[in-house]
Amino acid sequence: MKKNHSATLTINNKSYLLPIYKASEGSDVIDITKLYAESNHFTYDPGFTSTASCQSNITFIDGEKGILRYRGYDIEELAKKSDFIEVTNLLIYGDLPNKRQLNKYYKLISKHTMVHEQLLKFFNGFRRDAHPMAMMVGVMGALSAFYQDSLDINDPHQRMTASRRIIAKASTIGAMAYKYSIGQPFVQPDNNLSYSENFLNMCFSVPAEKYKISKVMSDAMDTILILHADHEQNASTSTVRLAGSSGANPFACVAAGVASLWGPAHGGANQAALEMLETIGNKKNVPNFIKRAKDKNDPFRLMGFGHRVYKNYDPRAKILKQTCKKVLKHIGINKDPVLDVAMELEKIALKDKYFIDKKLYPNVDFYSGIILRAMGFPPEMFTVIFSIARSSGWTAHWHEMIEDPVQKIGRPRQLYSGNKKSVYGKKRSTKNTR
Ligand code: CMC
Repeated sequence: MKKNHSATLTINNKSYLLPIYKASEGSDVIDITKLYAESNHFTYDPGFTSTASCQSNITFIDGEKGILRYRGYDIEELAKKSDFIEVTNLLIYGDLPNKRQLNKYYKLISKHTMVHEQLLKFFNGFRRDAHPMAMMVGVMGALSAFYQDSLDINDPHQRMTASRRIIAKASTIGAMAYKYSIGQPFVQPDNNLSYSENFLNMCFSVPAEKYKISKVMSDAMDTILILHADHEQNASTSTVRLAGSSGANPFACVAAGVASLWGPAHGGANQAALEMLETIGNKKNVPNFIKRAKDKNDPFRLMGFGHRVYKNYDPRAKILKQTCKKVLKHIGINKDPVLDVAMELEKIALKDKYFIDKKLYPNVDFYSGIILRAMGFPPEMFTVIFSIARSSGWTAHWHEMIEDPVQKIGRPRQLYSGNKKSVYGKKRSTKNTR
């Protein structure tokens, strides 16, 4: 790390010199690693709003300007020129592969698209009405019981094999979760198809009828996967890093990431956003929902709006807005009431003082649900698709974390505010709320 200058912190008249490290772009960091040992004070930052948990070379976000880059490449360029598998290679290896490297990588990934026959038994244990994310968490974690040849996390070769398995099998497991939930037979992967085509085929073809894969749909799926592949130290990626910091099994770490992604404040927002648009139902109801979103006494929030890091239009939402229009045109929907509601909501919110002052703009989840619904996916599958894409980012971060020489087990501390030493049997002055 490049030391830039230092900051001085004074506590009770004693000064502590804290080194500042220079970022290649974005905010520099103040190093507080020795602060506790020297001053007996922790820092306090719920939600990590001012905390850099690690050093990373993978993804750069400028939330004020609305910039997102993977390994230095603008997301707009990758969405236009690359495909998902090439992007996963970029995330994991650090630069775009040449043609020979890419072909070899395609083959290596496709070698792992099938799942072990025993794994099918896990699905039979689920209720048919289980949320597909519940199956995704469970079955991704179950992979840790299978691949004994890629469990030594100190062996770089085994680590690579594990990450290729995760990327290749994520879409197979996601498609199986969908098929199981609708009572249709599983469809085996077809390695002659691209990653996106294969996923669509595993979801929508049935033994009685072949699914005709449209280029517009598979391109749109590829765009969605690329845009969701990584997003620096978000909740699920931080979860994967934290789980992995103890040396845990890589498949179990990714399952922890899936669990964290599921929540409506994170990956579950795409399902929540579409459900919200459907509930609003008509353009004329938009002002009432805007009013509710601004009301402090109403828990309602505009789903698909706002972001911890972006204080500008999410660049991924801009790309998806265009993809959304292409997909709807392709399937002959010239007027979609849900899209109408979305556009009206966006128009009003972008002019409203509350949203302007709080810098709340549409995020990636605002348009992705409309596209996925047009492809034929039910809302429960939206977060599954997000998790398939993000599996690549999670594995890239997991590699980086293990290879980081300063890596330690993640172990935050706390500001303790509970009872002081109490005597068993002696009544305490604090109120018993039970
Ligand atoms: N609708 C109405 N008000 C909002 C919204 C919203 N969607 N988002 C934030 N606010 C308000 C919030 O009430 C708060 O107001 P105040 O300062 O008066 O208390 C202020 O804006 C700041 O909100 P916050 O919750 O403190 O901000 P955060 O950085 O902790 O949360 C967020 C970010 C994404 C969780 C939040 O904006 C949100 O809940 N959005 C809706 C859910 C959503 O779309 N999530 C997907 C995020 S993008 C996909 C991903 O990366 O996973």
